[in-house]
Amino acid sequence: MGIPKLQIALDHNDLEHALSDAVKVGHIVDIIEVGTILCLQEGQKAISCLRSLFPDKLMVADTKCADAGGTVAKNVADAGADFMTVICCATIPTMEAAKKEVKELQVELYGDWTFEQAQQWLDIGVKQAIYHQSRDALLSGETWGEKDLNKVKKLIDMGFNVSVTGGLDVGTLSLFEGIDVYTFITGRGISGAAEPEKAAQAFKDEIQRIWGE
Ligand code: 5RP
Repeated sequence: MGIPKLQIALDHNDLEHALSDAVKVGHIVDIIEVGTILCLQEGQKAISCLRSLFPDKLMVADTKCADAGGTVAKNVADAGADFMTVICCATIPTMEAAKKEVKELQVELYGDWTFEQAQQWLDIGVKQAIYHQSRDALLSGETWGEKDLNKVKKLIDMGFNVSVTGGLDVGTLSLFEGIDVYTFITGRGISGAAEPEKAAQAFKDEIQRIWGE
């Protein structure tokens, strides 16, 4: 079992605040994500600025793309993104088109999806899935639990690299002990902290404590 990576989701409304947090924690995290909100607000400019600041860091454009996969993927790859996300209800042709343009495509699991669909994603060569508790589900009282862990484990058994996200804090990580999580993705758990650098380091330390032995 590997040591899960840590990814910061920069879900800021503007590039200035995103860059401010990125420079505080970029040296601690493994992956920088241009979050959906930032993609919608600042798009390619945000990706290319972050790529200039962090030339060697893995970078994700969290476009949650549903259509025009090839065009969106080419645009984010040209700006410097390594990975890009598509929403799980996107069609297979959309995923195939996007996959040609980026180093790796990630399928974001929201709402209704099936393991039969997941097998189709594997069949076209998509290796990454992101298991998500949406902000809105969390707001309406959903919590992480056994049902989530079982789905995460099944996706890993099928052969996916599975990232986990949605309202994570340092205390949530131990729920996943013993599971080969690819990446923990956190936004507000770092950006919302009084001291983002300390928060990012606390996530790294807890990952190391649980998976590093
Ligand atoms: C929202 C996202 C977020 O970037 C991701 O879930 C992390 O956010 P947070 O840790 O703040 O819940 O993809 O759609």
